[in-house]
Amino acid sequence: MFVKINRKQLKQEIRRGYIHVASTITMSVVMVLVVFLLGTFIIDHYKTIVVPKDIYFPRFTSIAKTHYSSVYLFHRHSLYSPSLTRVMEFTDSTGLVDLWHTISDEELMEKAIRVPRVSEDPKKVAFMFLTRRSLPLRSFWEKFFEGHEDLFSIYLHTSPDFNYEPPNSSVFYKRRIPSKHVQWGKPTMIDAERRLLANALLDFSNQRFILLSESCIPLFNFTTIYNYLMNANQSFLSSFDDPRKIGRGRYNKQMGPTITLKDWRKGSQWFEANRELAHEIISDKMYYDVFQNHCLPPCYMDEHYLPTLVNKVRSDLTTNTTVTWTDWSGGGSHPMTFAKKDITEVFINQVRYGSKCTYNGANSSICFLFARKFHPSTLEPLLKMAQMVFGFGP
Ligand SMILES: *[C@@H]1O[C@H](CO)[C@@H](O)[C@H](O)[C@H]1NC(C)=O
Ligand SMILES: *[C@@H]1O[C@H](CO)[C@@H](O)[C@H](O)[C@H]1NC(C)=O
Ligand SMILES: *[C@@H]1O[C@H](CO)[C@@H](O)[C@H](O)[C@H]1NC(C)=O
Ligand SMILES: *[C@@H]1O[C@H](CO)[C@@H](O)[C@H](O)[C@H]1NC(C)=O
Ligand SMILES: *[C@@H]1O[C@H](CO)[C@@H](O)[C@H](O)[C@H]1NC(C)=O
Repeated sequence: MFVKINRKQLKQEIRRGYIHVASTITMSVVMVLVVFLLGTFIIDHYKTIVVPKDIYFPRFTSIAKTHYSSVYLFHRHSLYSPSLTRVMEFTDSTGLVDLWHTISDEELMEKAIRVPRVSEDPKKVAFMFLTRRSLPLRSFWEKFFEGHEDLFSIYLHTSPDFNYEPPNSSVFYKRRIPSKHVQWGKPTMIDAERRLLANALLDFSNQRFILLSESCIPLFNFTTIYNYLMNANQSFLSSFDDPRKIGRGRYNKQMGPTITLKDWRKGSQWFEANRELAHEIISDKMYYDVFQNHCLPPCYMDEHYLPTLVNKVRSDLTTNTTVTWTDWSGGGSHPMTFAKKDITEVFINQVRYGSKCTYNGANSSICFLFARKFHPSTLEPLLKMAQMVFGFGP
């Protein structure tokens, strides 16, 4: 009862707040438009391009309040940038982005490499799903995304013969990218990841890029995950030196001198990258070729290529850890899969808060934002807990 009343009051407060914010925004928009038109005129006149350097690594203290600030409105309207027109080729006549295209992987990479490393309007997280067929936990994800449409983009890489579309009301509707056959652990898997990254890089507003599988779930509500990723000053790409046979033992001397045993790293496939790191990944050809030729079973490219690459080219960009939790405690080469009976509030909270790590240099008990592997049978209990445990808004 007490809680309900408080919620009502809170809602009213929030509504009042919104009205206030809305009027402030309207005012700002008008002012910004005037400044913008003036600016465009001047820039046009002198044919110079203003590249806003200060938005390189956004250090938002409060995302929810600042992402509509006039600064970003200005950037969003800076359509005079010539590079943007290249990206616009992917929009249809109504101005909506159509992810389906017919260009080759090579052309796609070239296009993506030409897109600036610095996002002009850094406000979206790109959720890249690498799946075989449909997403069994789709309705749980839909609840997660609900109400945050401006702040994310979704990309699906599926089996090429899979052409099912969810209902047009779904956030997953028409989000498949042209896909090719993938073999687990083989270079074709890396190709799929690069394809996802390249497609996502074409959208200027994507700032963080997270790779997910069909058995992944989000561990927190959208706001929490969004703020965690957007405020992080490094990416979460796992990379470590494993002295064992299943680590260093997979190094092949023929990879030298390009890649030495000292460079060799291992890590989880499920990475998160910021725009700059995403750019580095799709730009690499040299290390990719070495891996393609010399990382053969029992060497698996998805476990070593990105960890080694990032160590070689930009080790400052990653925390060397992943934000996707996996339970390897069962031993063997496959992680635990969780089923319906495992899904309890205690278990979920254990996964959420049961670890210690550092976040932007400070101690944190939130180390994981996503978890795998969740069997399709977990959908029902997860949906039941969506609001109370996960805090997904109605
Ligand atoms: C969405 O699908 C429904 C039912 O299939 C259809 O009636 C409607 O016109 C569609 N809306 C759009 C915008 O395509
Ligand atoms: C990640 O690993 C690289 C290479 O091993 C190291 O140089 C870097 O300092 C590590 N980064 C962090 C945040 O620990
Ligand atoms: C990230 O932020 C923390 C806290 O401000 C700082 O201590 C740390 O050096 C930063 N790391 C990088 C790589 O910028
Ligand atoms: C962070 O955790 C480490 C070890 O868990 C501890 O030694 C250190 O004092 C903690 N730092 C802060 C600022 O709490
Ligand atoms: C999201 O979760 C956080 C922390 O669990 C909570 O404080 C916040 O109110 C939630 N946000 C929404 C919109 O439900």
